[in-house]
Parts: sequence; structure tokens; C-alpha cells
Amino acid sequence: MVNLMRCSMTLDLEAKKVLLRKIPHGLFICGVREGDEINGFTASWVTQGSFEPPLVVMAVRSEGSSHGIIERTKHFSLNVLRADQKELAAVFFKPQSAMGGRFESAPFRYGELGLPLLEDAIGGVECELVGQVVHGDHTVFVGEVKSAHLNQDGDALNLASTGWSYGG
Ligand SMILES: Cc1cc2nc3c(=O)[nH]c(=O)nc-3n(C[C@H](O)[C@H](O)[C@H](O)COP(=O)(O)O)c2cc1C
Repeated sequence: MVNLMRCSMTLDLEAKKVLLRKIPHGLFICGVREGDEINGFTASWVTQGSFEPPLVVMAVRSEGSSHGIIERTKHFSLNVLRADQKELAAVFFKPQSAMGGRFESAPFRYGELGLPLLEDAIGGVECELVGQVVHGDHTVFVGEVKSAHLNQDGDALNLASTGWSYGG
């Protein structure tokens, strides 16, 4: 009986969109590196997944250029933007002429794991990939936080404040 009900159920797409867009999100710059090549992109589908070990969960578009790099290198960084860094977030989601070009707008250094960390952000963490869910147009990556660098604490940029939406 339950199964029959499930089969005949149709998803209310408008309700789904409205409700999923209520999930609050921050805005982060994910950094990746493969050999000499670096890249970074704006990510909002990010959350913490465990205290011990410290885990973060991030969904990455399967067709993006960083996706394959994370799968192959099994590492990524997450940089936490300041509340006044909306323009920088925009640089990191717009198309770029060449891989890594977005970092021309933002000074960075490499962390202990060799991943790009923005100098002018609240800070950043470097993560080692410990799991992934491949299902749908984004892959859910789970990373264990291996290093954490706090530049200067302050209010972080969040998606709601930008007027942009990514979700639904
Ligand atoms: C507000 C906003 C939030 C975004 N959040 C994500 C995200 O969580 N995951 C993701 O894969 N892409 C996200 N994107 C899209 C990427 O930033 C964008 O596709 C980027 O060009 C990918 O770069 P890449 O192909 O060089 O990896 C977001 C875009 C915007 C505008």
C-alpha cells in the first residue's frame, strides 16, 4: 500500500523550489590544485558534517572544471569570505579565460597541503576527501579538515545578503 502511494506521488516542483531555497547558505571559495594548475570557484552548498573528526560537506557541479580535480587529487580548500566580499564571490563564479585566472583578483598562498588559501578572507581550511555521493548533477563531497588558518575573524558573507540564489 505504501509503495503504491509512493508510485503515484508527484513532486510539487514549485513547493520544492520555495522550500529548498529556505535553506540558509554561506558563500565560500573552494580551491583546488593539480600539479601546477590551480582553480577556484564560488560554492554555497557547504556545511559541517561532523565534530570529530571535523568534516565538511560540499556539493560540486559534475560538469565544472574543479569536480574532476577534487576526484583525482582527493583534496580541496574552503575559504570563508568576509561579509563585504560579494564582488570577489562574483569573480569566482563567472567564466574565466584560463584555469586559475580568477586568482589574479585575489592574493593567495599555499597551505600545508598545497591548496590555495586566500590572504584577504576570514580564513580557510584544507580538506582531504573521505567520501562522496555521485548521484544527480552535483557530487556531494565529504572532506576531513586537516588544516585551518584564521586571518582575521569577522562577519562572513551569506547568500541571502547578496540577493543571488543557488538552489531550489
Ligand atoms: C551564488 C552561487 C552559488 C554557487 N554555489 C555552488 C556550489 O555550491 N557548488 C558548485 O559546484 N557550484 C556552485 N556555483 C557555481 C560555480 O561557482 C560556477 O559554476 C563556477 O564557474 C564553477 O567553476 P569551475 O567550472 O571552474 O570549477 C554557485 C554559483 C553561484 C552564483
